[in-house]
Amino acid sequence: MGSLHRDAGACRLPAASFAPFRSLLIRSLDSASLAHTLGGSPPLVDVNEDGTLDWDELEPFLQSTYYDRRPIPASLDTLLLSANIDGWFEVSVDGVMTTATRRIRVPLEALKEAVRRYKERGDSLIYPLGTVIVADHVADDLTIERTVMRKRADGHWDYGVFDSTGSRVPSTTTPPKPLAVPTQCVGCHLGSRLYEPEKSDDVDPR
Ligand code: HEC
Repeated sequence: MGSLHRDAGACRLPAASFAPFRSLLIRSLDSASLAHTLGGSPPLVDVNEDGTLDWDELEPFLQSTYYDRRPIPASLDTLLLSANIDGWFEVSVDGVMTTATRRIRVPLEALKEAVRRYKERGDSLIYPLGTVIVADHVADDLTIERTVMRKRADGHWDYGVFDSTGSRVPSTTTPPKPLAVPTQCVGCHLGSRLYEPEKSDDVDPR
């Protein structure tokens, strides 16, 4: 088994194995859910037993454990109810995520708060913790699926995809290609990109 040891059902990989994935792991999971994911059950398995962590091993593991670890509710209704939203600001965009039109909704109160504190936060639009942003993928007036971001307590974001009935699903379906949660979402939603709602980075999440 190389330097991989099984300990109480968990696999211990050398700490250095995680270094290349540090930024992606921080963006995907907060520290508690990261510890829970890496030390929990099902264990992270060194499939090819080379004693180090490969992307082919980490990616499916993260994708299959993410929703439980964060945790993202199985229905969008439950997620929205818990966010207690009282009115939305809406805007439609055509973007790179999908060929479908995206109808983006931001809670009005969260937007007002971000605008109110714009100067104080260094001329940045920083949404309050818990902010939920929903983007409907619309084609021929039908909502095909919805992508969701929810602001975590540590300043990074949770990601979710829900189908047309509002049930949680592992990835989008619309062209140009399916986007899987959380790996592809965090891969694109990097802090330095202009489209990032807040331009946060992993050292100083906002
Ligand atoms: C190819 C790069 C890319 C990938 C991959 C990606 N996004 Fe995005 N995302 C964007 C861009 C660009 C925007 C802003 C324009 C738009 O909404 O299309 C955006 C905006 C959003 C928004 C609206 C809030 C905002 O910042 O305007 C949500 C919600 C969202 N993405 C969720 C997700 C989820 C969930 C995933 C993973 C399933 C994901 N994104 C994957 C590029 C990406």
